[in-house]
Amino acid sequence: MKKICVIGLGYVGLPLAVALSKHYSVVGFDINQERIQELQRGYDRTAEIDKSTLKTTALHVTHNVEEIEKQEIYIVTVPTPITKDNKPDLTPLEKACETLGKVIQKDSIIVFESTVYPGVTEDICGPLLAKTSGLTQGKDFFLGYSPERINPGDKVHTVDKITKVVAGETPSVTELLVEIYGTMNNNNIFQAASIKTAEAAKVIENAQRDINIAFINEAASIFNKVGVSIYDVLEAAKTKWNFLPFEPGLVGGHCIGVDPYYLAHLSKEIGHEPEVILSGRETNESMPAFIAERLAGIASENKKRLLILGLTFKENVPDLRNTKVVDLMDKLKKQGFDISVHDPYADPEEARKFYGLELLTSLDGLEPYDMILGAVPHKEYRALSQDQLQRLTTDQGCVADLKAMWRNLTLEGQRQYWSL
Ligand SMILES: NC(=O)c1ccc[n+]([C@@H]2O[C@H](COP(=O)([O-])OP(=O)(O)OC[C@H]3O[C@@H](n4cnc5c(N)ncnc54)[C@H](O)[C@@H]3O)[C@@H](O)[C@H]2O)c1
Repeated sequence: MKKICVIGLGYVGLPLAVALSKHYSVVGFDINQERIQELQRGYDRTAEIDKSTLKTTALHVTHNVEEIEKQEIYIVTVPTPITKDNKPDLTPLEKACETLGKVIQKDSIIVFESTVYPGVTEDICGPLLAKTSGLTQGKDFFLGYSPERINPGDKVHTVDKITKVVAGETPSVTELLVEIYGTMNNNNIFQAASIKTAEAAKVIENAQRDINIAFINEAASIFNKVGVSIYDVLEAAKTKWNFLPFEPGLVGGHCIGVDPYYLAHLSKEIGHEPEVILSGRETNESMPAFIAERLAGIASENKKRLLILGLTFKENVPDLRNTKVVDLMDKLKKQGFDISVHDPYADPEEARKFYGLELLTSLDGLEPYDMILGAVPHKEYRALSQDQLQRLTTDQGCVADLKAMWRNLTLEGQRQYWSL
């Protein structure tokens, strides 16, 4: 049986390692000891894998480097964040390569799944692996790339059901990747023309999404100023067969709002100004300020007690990384709002640690607010009734509904409804 090691057991690495372990001998490695201990206890804080699966999986997890020696294939799924000035931060990838340099041996195959720009695998990771291992790339060890496409919280498009793009440094490496990933996902494999092609495909998938959302955000901003609901507009426009139904909103998380900067970086390096890509980013980044300004415009002076519903970067997931709700809160505070925040998915401890926020843990028994803002469309918020929303707002209060969760509800008293 083939021996595989997955490096980095987060949102991507853990589901992948669990799926592969149904067919191969798999060891999962992570530098975060706490994460390993939690997984050993059967707890996945990313909520991607349930307790009973974790308890019964054949996957072995470790933070001990010695336990990942002598594997045939290493799959790297470490984070690829950006720096404060929006440049690729390849530190986790470089550190993973340094670790791998100590354990790879003749004929090892190292496959990267982390999202990067074309060239990172072959021109940065390969040389680093060679330097730290003393082996020769393309002769002693071989590279591959297979972008990950899963979507946190999405229980339909799971790693075993989506098309996997693969590319290897040599035809035989590609062949092996086709076999390994194909076993896991019913041979739903696409062979990309090269490693750089596979890297490029992934980065444009996310950059394209960012630009499409930016366009709708721009349209929403224009229409909001003239009193036309973008959601009404979308409902009409969607009836055309080739209209792309993107929705407005905050673009957070660590994929859509981050990956375009990887592409922009490469573009600048080769002397091409990435105008469309960065303009999309700028528009999406400007949404918190735009929304805060609009809400300030409708709030009465001295009536700015605000309850925000939702803190995570998207609906129905606990992931707080790069959530733009925090940016929105900063802008709203500057506009004089006194803010409380609730989220049924976010870990209160993480909210405190990362953002210094004390989360409300229940919506029961709260003093009515001057305004409530539905910021993240968690299913629990979508299910709030007219009565529940009204109990949360004063008689003259406002129900602000960023994601149009409650657009068909009527409100009693002098309550007003606001959306994009
Ligand atoms: N989250 C997604 O839905 C998603 C989807 C597609 C692609 N991606 C890409 O996949 C990659 C991983 O993303 P993620 O969301 O799983 O990240 P994550 O932060 O959830 O998980 C990464 C894990 O890697 C570990 N790690 C960091 N450095 C390490 C090292 N040197 N050695 C071993 N482990 C290390 C961390 O402790 C963490 O547990 C990123 O490049 C991301 O852009 C993510």
